[in-house]
Amino acid sequence: MHDSNPTPSIFNTVPVAPPDAILGLNTQYRSDPSPNKVNLGVGAYRTAEGQPYVLPVVRRVEQALANDPTTTHEYLPQDGLKQFCDLSANLILGPDSPALVDNRSVTVQALSGTGALRVGFTFVARFLSSETAVYIPKPSWSNHKNVVVQSGLPPTREYRYFDYGTGAVDMEGMIEDLKAAPAGSMVLLHGCAHNPTGADPTHEQWEQVLKVVQEGKLVPFFDNAYQGFASGSLQMDAWSVRRFVKAGLDMMVGQSYAKNMGLYGERVGALTVISSEGGNNEGIRSQLKAIIRAMYSNPPKHGAMVAARILGDTEMFAEWMREKLRGALVRIGTPGNWDHIVNQIGMFSFTGLTAAQVEFMKDKYHIYMTSNGRISMAGLTDDTVEYVAEAMKDAVVSLKKGVIHNM
Ligand SMILES: Cc1ncc(COP(=O)(O)O)c(C=O)c1O
Repeated sequence: MHDSNPTPSIFNTVPVAPPDAILGLNTQYRSDPSPNKVNLGVGAYRTAEGQPYVLPVVRRVEQALANDPTTTHEYLPQDGLKQFCDLSANLILGPDSPALVDNRSVTVQALSGTGALRVGFTFVARFLSSETAVYIPKPSWSNHKNVVVQSGLPPTREYRYFDYGTGAVDMEGMIEDLKAAPAGSMVLLHGCAHNPTGADPTHEQWEQVLKVVQEGKLVPFFDNAYQGFASGSLQMDAWSVRRFVKAGLDMMVGQSYAKNMGLYGERVGALTVISSEGGNNEGIRSQLKAIIRAMYSNPPKHGAMVAARILGDTEMFAEWMREKLRGALVRIGTPGNWDHIVNQIGMFSFTGLTAAQVEFMKDKYHIYMTSNGRISMAGLTDDTVEYVAEAMKDAVVSLKKGVIHNM
């Protein structure tokens, strides 16, 4: 209750924010009453019955932690659990990394991959320059541009990345655009399993990127949300990061355990700042801690403890899901060549469906995916593969125009 004639609320002028390109789909999906609905939008693994999947090893560690009387809920320091940070740095950089051997890297725990980017770009805005240009691939994960701007940096610029004709990396476009970037610009690179295209540079192509980055004095920021998903090997998927570290650059690296340990909601990740020279770890760490202190004080403990205990143990589902989807598409005679579904790597696949075909699949079949035709392999189950394949066939046959990979 309040007095009569309340003054209009100052909050009533707040406009409604546009829905998030990926999370907005969840809301639509949840309110769709169709028993046939399938959610291919957000990258989270599901059981054959479509239920959230917890890795058995995660369950075991959690039970052990619960039964351990020394487990406490004390605050972590701003930079997180030291053991977790050390293991994370080892996992991405390799234990023999020159950055670790020369003691010229600082790793802090972060709120998953997004939090690593957010702390990292805030650090850039504050200690490099708030005018730093950040180049992201076109296309990229839809949240990159938001994080960069919210961190106090100018709107992102894009470099060409994907060749819609071949379904592979547009090397010429990428190199040309990076060559045009002013010295000191940051380049966001997906370390492996590029989201949303699933197309990664080959080792030779990474060498070309490295050369342009070095010659142009660009600063790489590697986003690694999928280590272990591209090749199935944690080591192979760290190749690009390790190659750039070996070149002795100033660079930053974000990590996430959302996908490779299924710890999505626990927000487990890390940010590593690597200096070409070393000698100022204390300055870097103290400023990262100051940023974290004002943002959320210190990171959560549970997920980091789980991850720290099981680092090294991962389980892969994406490749056989890909195989299944392609097999189903071919078996039911969907027009076109669907090899790109298996040739692309990682959790996501660019189907090549147009926005109209995506709409068609949502309206007619209650199948949800982002409008660029990206599907999350994790949303597919044994039971839904055929249904999705049938729907894709119908969409392709009914709305023929502009299926990039197939015409
Ligand atoms: C490329 C990329 N970076 C970062 C993230 C952030 O994920 P999280 O914050 O859940 O670790 C994602 C999630 O989908 C992603 O695809």
